Amino acid sequence: MPMTRGSNLGLLKEKLVAAEAITVLTGAGISADSGVPTFRGADGLWKNVRAEDLATPDAFERDPRLVWEWYNWRRELIATKQPNNAHNAIVELERRCPNFWLMTQNVDGLHRDAGSQKLSEIHGNIWKVRCTGCGVVENNRDVPIAILPSCPRCGSLLRPHIVWFGESLSPDDLDDCSRALKHCDVLLIIGTSGVVYPAAGFASVAKEAGAFVAEINLDPTPQSALVDLSLHGRAKDLVPLLLEPL
Ligand code: OAD
Ligand code: ZN
Repeated sequence: MPMTRGSNLGLLKEKLVAAEAITVLTGAGISADSGVPTFRGADGLWKNVRAEDLATPDAFERDPRLVWEWYNWRRELIATKQPNNAHNAIVELERRCPNFWLMTQNVDGLHRDAGSQKLSEIHGNIWKVRCTGCGVVENNRDVPIAILPSCPRCGSLLRPHIVWFGESLSPDDLDDCSRALKHCDVLLIIGTSGVVYPAAGFASVAKEAGAFVAEINLDPTPQSALVDLSLHGRAKDLVPLLLEPL
């Protein structure tokens, strides 16, 4: 209902203007508006295999070729995509807010491309590779990447520098996120289904610490009952509205 959206939007804008510390959590929905398929949306499936069955250490051990083919499909897709107005609006929020932190689950690098600087890419970055032997992390923008890629230093197999199901976030990222959640006045959650942990638990951490928590998503999510306010619509339409004068 437009009335509800209008007043909710106004309230969120007031909270953001008054906030000294703003934390933003994003998921695949923000990149959907740049044309990157979401994981749980209709077009997110590759060869009918779910992300949960490819983005795991077991899958890579069993069939590294298959996992790299999936990442090559995603590399090809993402290489042609640009940040959209929602990514750009988040850069502007960072500029305006003295104490800002962005936590993204997206590995596409579009937040960095847009210009975000205060961010944790908590699931890694598709344009980085890591050696399964010596652990070195390097940038690699090959599209497609050679299958199977090997480490220039030690010859071992390279893997995507991505946090897979069953793996932990880096301790540095966990520290940064924990600080950002506990000390923010507003947590803004954009375009995530809220089912993959630990990010799925971030709303309750911020809420328990006293933050105002708002969600922007096309649809209701499991977090909707918990948050103070939900706005339903496309990220690229709604996020820029947050910057307009009250
Ligand atoms: P999902 O695909 O699970 O969810 C995308 C969310 O975005 C859904 O709630 C949609 O309703 C919403 N959405 C879609 N289009 C939108 C739009 N234009 N504007 C606003 N919202 C929109 O993606 P994530 O929650 O990011 O992990 O998934 C979490 C993790 O699971 C990913 O980081 C990935 C995946 O497996 C790894 O790759 C390790
Ligand atoms: Zn190596």
